[in-house]
Amino acid sequence: MTLEAGWVPVALSASIEPGTSAGAVVDGKEIVVWRDNSGKAHVWEDRCPHRGMRMSFGFVRGDHIACLYHGWQYDTAGQCRYIPAHPTLEVPQTIKVPTCSAEEKYGIVWATASTEASLPDINAAADVAPVRSLYVECGAGDVIAALKTIGMGDLNGNLGLLALGEDQLLLAVQEISTAKTAIHIVLLVQSVSDGGGKRKQYAQWAARLRFDLEQMAEVA
Ligand code: FES
Repeated sequence: MTLEAGWVPVALSASIEPGTSAGAVVDGKEIVVWRDNSGKAHVWEDRCPHRGMRMSFGFVRGDHIACLYHGWQYDTAGQCRYIPAHPTLEVPQTIKVPTCSAEEKYGIVWATASTEASLPDINAAADVAPVRSLYVECGAGDVIAALKTIGMGDLNGNLGLLALGEDQLLLAVQEISTAKTAIHIVLLVQSVSDGGGKRKQYAQWAARLRFDLEQMAEVA
């Protein structure tokens, strides 16, 4: 799914700490996922309007992110607010990074460029514990088809539940390119303190899952 078509999972919430940023790709489009110091997550195009440096290489300063190259600073709306080489300049409103809407749900950061899409809902009251993001060398369609063969329910396009014994995993699929896919995996738990040992167990399970998915995609 593209950012224009709906809500796309772009990172585990736990992997983006306050004051940090990370690059990601959705359907070939490079984005930066960053979290300001108040804890709010943001998803933008990963390109500084000045000379095109990746914003994911930048530095978060409070509620601004500063580009690594010449230090231009952008507020949470993507608007450039400060240019170090011209400190008294009132920055033109046209200097702005294209932004997406960003929300967090099920321990996952979601982003969209659509104004009409609804966030996926699995109607689960449980808490979640992050397991890991898994990067698989095959397309999202093949990944989803293979996940269904091992029992994942198709709940909402790029989101599914997989029951393993008494446990339930939530798998959110991010299309990176036609040949690469990320799966963000969280464990549903009764309380966040329950996740510890099982998170490790399922992180190991996920590593084997990557191998199985790539094998299945090869023979499909
Ligand atoms: S490229 Fe970003 S400030 Fe120059």
